[in-house]
Amino acid sequence: PRPLIIAPSVLSADYARLGEEVRALEAAGADWIHFDVMDGHFVPNLSFGAGVAAALRPHCRTHLDAHLMIAPADPYLEGFAKAGADTITVHAEAGPHLHRSLQAIRALGKRAGVALNPGTPESAIAYVLDLVDLVLVMSVNPGFGGQAFIPAILPKIAAVRTMLGGRPVDIEVDGGIAPDTAPQVVAAGANVLVAGSAVFRGGPSAYAANIAAIRAAA
Ligand code: DX5
Ligand code: ZN
Repeated sequence: PRPLIIAPSVLSADYARLGEEVRALEAAGADWIHFDVMDGHFVPNLSFGAGVAAALRPHCRTHLDAHLMIAPADPYLEGFAKAGADTITVHAEAGPHLHRSLQAIRALGKRAGVALNPGTPESAIAYVLDLVDLVLVMSVNPGFGGQAFIPAILPKIAAVRTMLGGRPVDIEVDGGIAPDTAPQVVAAGANVLVAGSAVFRGGPSAYAANIAAIRAAA
């Protein structure tokens, strides 16, 4: 099995202190930093872009995991690569040329990820499996933190793991992950758990306990 990775989402951080927040998350046991990019078009919210990722990068010792909820994504891939993202994930629904987007990420020397919205079947990625390092199964409709986990996606995690065969690909789950939902997604085959509100609740003094609780439950 792939190693378990806890990836706190800085979507729930204090943006005025983003560098400190990332350092606090890493000190609290975060394995990766998840960076949610929203364009107000593909998803009904705006967040931050490659400029903020570049500013954050020197504060981040771990893996920077960029989740692009933007359409089109292709014009921005190079910017996120130059900003220092380690994995760049695009949505299968974001454009007609998913295969080209994944090729472009790999050509930039980065790990390529593909995300599936809750309503998108796993068959959407059937012909790009050899181009992905990570599959992100969304467990909420993207756009906002703090939403309720959608249990209907559990069989999709298992279906993706089966489709991948023996490929060394991470399966990430994002949305509503907390100590109660983490064991379900891990049992289904996920190994990268994104969490926003469940990590940030209680403030910086609680980050370590919150991350440990998710890890212990998983
Ligand atoms: C949702 C984002 C998530 C979000 C998760 O569109 O992709 O990464 O921050 O937040 P929680 O863990 O609060 O559901
Ligand atoms: Zn995300």
